[in-house]
Amino acid sequence: MTNRINIVEVGPRDGLQNEKQAIDVATKVALIERLADAGLKTVEAGAFVSPKWVPQMAASDEVLATIKRAPGVSYPVLTPNMKGYEGARAGKADTVAIFGAASESFSKKNINASIAESLERFKPVLDAAKTDGIRVRGYVSCVLGCPYEGEIPLGNVVNISKALFEMGCYEISLGDTIGVGAAGEARAMIRAVAEEVPIAALAGHFHDTYGQALANIYAALEEGVRTFDSSVSGLGGCPYAPGASGNVATEDVVYMLDHSGFETGADLDALVRISVWISEKLGRRPASKVARAKTAATIDKM
Ligand code: HMG
Ligand code: MG
Repeated sequence: MTNRINIVEVGPRDGLQNEKQAIDVATKVALIERLADAGLKTVEAGAFVSPKWVPQMAASDEVLATIKRAPGVSYPVLTPNMKGYEGARAGKADTVAIFGAASESFSKKNINASIAESLERFKPVLDAAKTDGIRVRGYVSCVLGCPYEGEIPLGNVVNISKALFEMGCYEISLGDTIGVGAAGEARAMIRAVAEEVPIAALAGHFHDTYGQALANIYAALEEGVRTFDSSVSGLGGCPYAPGASGNVATEDVVYMLDHSGFETGADLDALVRISVWISEKLGRRPASKVARAKTAATIDKM
């Protein structure tokens, strides 16, 4: 099995969507470009969602139009419906992501649709993307717990993952939206989904609310997962998951992988510089332990 790991950097989307303060387009563009320069091959660039629901993603069209695209780098954007898809296509997105949930309540709160309704909305997006030659990623939220329903039966996670894969998503990103799962649960969840979806098509998306994300990633690695979503500096949360902290920090994932015989192609020192820079812009310390450790002399002043 390959030791090459694909990192899907989600900071500019999953991270910034949750910020209270306004972030200008220039900062978003600089963040995306710097992340690609640091060797990351997938940098999620925004979301074509309702600006009333998530104001921070409102200028995703401008962001897509402005970024200098590096060769070999993909810049996915979120598209919950055809309106979002049309915006993404107009912006020349190479990849779009649809996002469903294993929890009915979360699905309602996040995209104002039941799980079944959401699948109906996704179908035309997948059809259009196929015609247009645009790849579609599928997210599943609440795979290890829901902020409204608590525990979610594994069968629900398997069913929606399988449905999205069979509809044509090339990859299913399994989201612990509120970061409640621990390694044994992550392992069991991956095993259950992998019975219906090829392991090579699965990605781990672990928020770090309870500090379990790195252990969950390691458990998923042992199961054969080779793609992980992470967010520089540990930015983020989810506007519809109260209390959720950011994704696991990209620097921390890259450090763990570099020291465990895996390859990411990412430049750790460059990531740490980006982490410190974006944290300064947002007026806080990086959530990443690696960034803090590597800049201990300067960061204490922040
Ligand atoms: P709705 O209100 O049911 O939509 O929202 P609607 O079709 O009834 O339309 C209502 C209004 O929204 C209309 O405008 C539409 O034009 C507009 P009005 O006539 O009132 O002026 N509209 C849109 N505008 C821009 N872009 C669009 C769009 N669609 C409709 N695509 C909708 C349904 C899905 C739009 C809404 O619920 C929404 O935008 N939700 C997005 C929520 C979101 O972005 N959540 C965060 C991302 S998911 C996440 O973070 C989890 C993840 O990281 C994985 C994990 O951690 O688990 C991926
Ligand atoms: Mg997320």
